[in-house]
Amino acid sequence: MTLASLRDVRFTYAFSDRPALDGLSLEWERGRVHGVVGLNSSGKSTLCALIRGIIPHFHSGELSGRVEILGRELEDWDPAELSTAIGCVFDNPFTQISGIRDTVFEEISIGLENLGVPRDDIIDRVTRVVRRLGIAHLVDKNPNGLSGGQRQKVAFASIIAMDAEVMVIDEPTSQLDPESSEEVFEIIRGLKDAGKSIVLVEHKIDLLAAYADTITVLHGGAVVMTGPTREVLGSPELAAFCIRPPEVVELAVRLRDDGRDLGLMPMTRGEAAQAVAARMEEARRAY
Ligand SMILES: Nc1ncnc2c1ncn2[C@@H]1O[C@H](COP(=O)(O)OP(=O)(O)OP(=O)(O)O)[C@@H](O)[C@H]1O
Ligand SMILES: [Mg+2]
Repeated sequence: MTLASLRDVRFTYAFSDRPALDGLSLEWERGRVHGVVGLNSSGKSTLCALIRGIIPHFHSGELSGRVEILGRELEDWDPAELSTAIGCVFDNPFTQISGIRDTVFEEISIGLENLGVPRDDIIDRVTRVVRRLGIAHLVDKNPNGLSGGQRQKVAFASIIAMDAEVMVIDEPTSQLDPESSEEVFEIIRGLKDAGKSIVLVEHKIDLLAAYADTITVLHGGAVVMTGPTREVLGSPELAAFCIRPPEVVELAVRLRDDGRDLGLMPMTRGEAAQAVAARMEEARRAY
């Protein structure tokens, strides 16, 4: 069973004269981190809204093509059921907090209460998740007083507590400093290790290179490249869609142009360092 199987999907928002998704097709497996990149307005958030079922249930418009989520056609999903199968964290941690609860603990509990989970189970689940994310010291604080990074962790805690099988995460680090961004990616890695399927829209390409299993490039509402991260981010085609490759890819390409091919295209600094060391060792032996 696949996470998502989309065939020739077109969607035009009501009152819009241009399709936001325009002949989009893709196939995503479960249990992976699927990175999504593309210029502004290329349809990334619209794709997330479709997978979460808020298109066409909440945003009205014209939808055509085939959309299958977790092995079931979109129209066969009950919207409430789909929203519990798919958790979501979106770009702005300041709007994600409900603002109607006095403590972080209560804030994280909202989703579970809505699911009708018994009080004791809620306490148990929230306690475990705040420990796991290292935010146990925040539970009695007012959510409105938290920093951006702390709010984003609370948003993650809410969906982790609900134990959704799929997480759709739209630019989770856009408001965060590099250190908090790295922490958020570590949370995402933990979710993947726990077997979750993750759709991750992110502009920080170096972080995607290190954490995503596949990359899908959107352009004008269509998928123009999709495949394993190394293949897509290492490809010279990327430039045609105005996506800058990771720093280490730029380095490897320059070395290759100078006649010093590193072999496997590195995706992280660690991989690049290893490849350079191996080349140096070869050169030393030859000498
Ligand atoms: N609620 C809406 N109503 C009408 N048009 C919309 C709506 N949301 C998005 N659009 C339009 O749909 C197209 C795709 O937008 P979308 O937000 O999916 O792009 P994106 O890739 O997420 O962009 P960004 O990088 O800025 O977040 C754009 O032309 C946008 O103006
Ligand atoms: Mg967006």
